Amino acid sequence: MLVTGGAGFIGSHTCVELLAHGHAVVVVDDFSNSSPAVIDRIDKAAGRPITALHEGDLRDSSLLRSVFEAHPIDAVIHFAAKKAVGESVELPLEYYDVNVSATTSLLRTMLAHGVRELVFSSSCSIYGQTSTVPLGEAEPAAPTNPYARSKWFCENIIADACRRYPELNAVALRYFNPVGAHSSGLLGEDPRGVPNNVMPYMMQVAIGRRPELQVFGGDYETPDGTCVRDYIHVMDVADGHRVALSQLEPGFSVFNLGTGVGTSVLGLVAAFREACGVEIPARVVSRRPGDVAMLIADPARAASAWGWRTTRDLHAMVRDAWEFQRLNPYGYEAGLVVGSGQ
Ligand code: NAD
Ligand code: WQD
Repeated sequence: MLVTGGAGFIGSHTCVELLAHGHAVVVVDDFSNSSPAVIDRIDKAAGRPITALHEGDLRDSSLLRSVFEAHPIDAVIHFAAKKAVGESVELPLEYYDVNVSATTSLLRTMLAHGVRELVFSSSCSIYGQTSTVPLGEAEPAAPTNPYARSKWFCENIIADACRRYPELNAVALRYFNPVGAHSSGLLGEDPRGVPNNVMPYMMQVAIGRRPELQVFGGDYETPDGTCVRDYIHVMDVADGHRVALSQLEPGFSVFNLGTGVGTSVLGLVAAFREACGVEIPARVVSRRPGDVAMLIADPARAASAWGWRTTRDLHAMVRDAWEFQRLNPYGYEAGLVVGSGQ
């Protein structure tokens, strides 16, 4: 199995899940948003190593060709992409180039080597400024920034490829808000620079790297005025990929990966206090442009088609994220804290 972007946040956890279920895993990653140190952590967390790592850019078709020639690849899980919404507004061409070109280059190489199975990382951000709660897959896509549009373009490109090449079977998984970490504390979310997302930001406040959490907006039409999101444990996301692959249907399909449960920003702070006994200094500031009040998945399609449901609750999400942060206060490159026993 080829995992692109396998050193990233979701890719690394998915590699562990695949290894634990007996799959052989080949990773391609250029480490543009991850650390080579992750590969050892994957091997350690899974208790057995990945088959191979190929360092390089997915847009490099000769690299891809050599990967497909070197290994008997039966399926691809395609995570590699740039993912920061704000940065995508500043660098739209870079986002379209990396996210879309990597996908077309991958599809071409898969077809040339007779590889028929693809799982693609899509995003709830393709639904855009919607007020529909919960969101089913039939909700029209209305992406509002280059990142989200790049994901929507890729979904369409893959769907077109499946129409033209009926031997190709693909699924796009629209993740809601993946958070949490592997329960060993070996793997987690380690963003570069200032975190854009609430959970890693909150963890850096908790560990003392940042003074407070700014809560973006307290006047939304939600029970406590702060935005509500559908946080999903990254190991449930990883499990969702394994199951999606095992249940892959002919042609192209899309599935939400979410819990169907909404949590507000202040609810997340409270859950952290309850699960980990740490108070996060939080201050409500003005809204962040582009945020919607409430995004909650309707997870019914995955439940009825695959019999699949998430199994980890908010308590597990904050507990596991905190364990990773405690053991890796300055991230992968700085190493595990001495005496962690890992
Ligand atoms: P991540 O940045 O941690 O992982 C992406 C990995 O891909 C990184 O290791 C990076 O080095 C690699 N990469 C990027 N461009 C590459 C290229 N051209 N060639 C080779 N490797 C490249 O991100 P993540 O959070 O793990 O997200 C994985 C996927 O899931 C992405 O496609 C993202 O858009 C999607 N997604 C993420 C979220 C989220 O909140 N994290 C939500 C919805 C969808
Ligand atoms: C969650 C809530 C913020 C930071 C993003 C992408 C989306 C998808 C998932 C990739 C919001 C609030 C945040 C902070 C805060 N990723 N917040 N203080 O925006 O729901 O979704 O990640 O596909 O495309 O847009 O996630 O974690 O940034 O924000 O109050 O310092 O936390 O306003 O309500 P978001 P997030």
